[in-house]
Amino acid sequence: VTVFPTPAAGAIAVAQRIAKLIRDKQAKGEKAVLGLATGVTPVAVYDELIRLHKDESLSFKNVITFNLDEYYPMQPSSAQSYVRFMNQHLFNHVDIEKANIHIPDGTLAESDIAAFCLNYEKKIEELGGLDLQILGIGRTGHIGFNEPGSAPNSGTRLVTLDDLTRTDAARDFGGKEAVPTKAITMGVGTIFKAREIILMAWSKKKAPIIKKAVEGELSGEVPATYLQLSDNVEFILDDPAASEL
Ligand code: GLP
Repeated sequence: VTVFPTPAAGAIAVAQRIAKLIRDKQAKGEKAVLGLATGVTPVAVYDELIRLHKDESLSFKNVITFNLDEYYPMQPSSAQSYVRFMNQHLFNHVDIEKANIHIPDGTLAESDIAAFCLNYEKKIEELGGLDLQILGIGRTGHIGFNEPGSAPNSGTRLVTLDDLTRTDAARDFGGKEAVPTKAITMGVGTIFKAREIILMAWSKKKAPIIKKAVEGELSGEVPATYLQLSDNVEFILDDPAASEL
């Protein structure tokens, strides 16, 4: 666990780690495979990466990305889609190749989802696996959209969203009734295969769930506690998020 005085300081540290990974891979003529997250938490990381692209010529030409999740059903053009979120907060501002961007597809027929999810896992493997996965955390203890009850070896799949998650998303959708009841998410097992995992949390609102995730008993009821099982996980927190540790 590393605690920073402000979210900005923590986000800059994470962006610098990502930039170093991209540059190290570039120097070796290799691709960097990143697992990316949505939500308010990583926005400052993406802002800093855009700044590094503009001011310090950080190129994303050798970067491949896999996003954690997407609501289901969801059209990419919808205001709440994670496709739109990623374009707006990162992809439209850097030189990443469109073909290197992967986000779970919220437009699929339900009968096609299982095959899509298997293929998502296969693509990650074929490209060498995730070098670095960044995560936020939901108040249910979800990572990606792995809600309470998710298995530690779960793969990419269609899940039902927890009531609290839908309550928290209500603001983005203009009311809870409009929040989809389902999502497609990478599994806990998918996340675990990443060579490095960074979970970020800012603000007092996240302090109780951070306490459970870091110090709580290992339990499927708080999927983030599974991270205690991995040696490759770092929690990057601001002071308020760490205040109950
Ligand atoms: C959503 C995302 C998660 C994210 C969580 C926390 O549910 N699917 O990946 O970690 O929200 O969001 P925020 O960063 O806005 O607090």
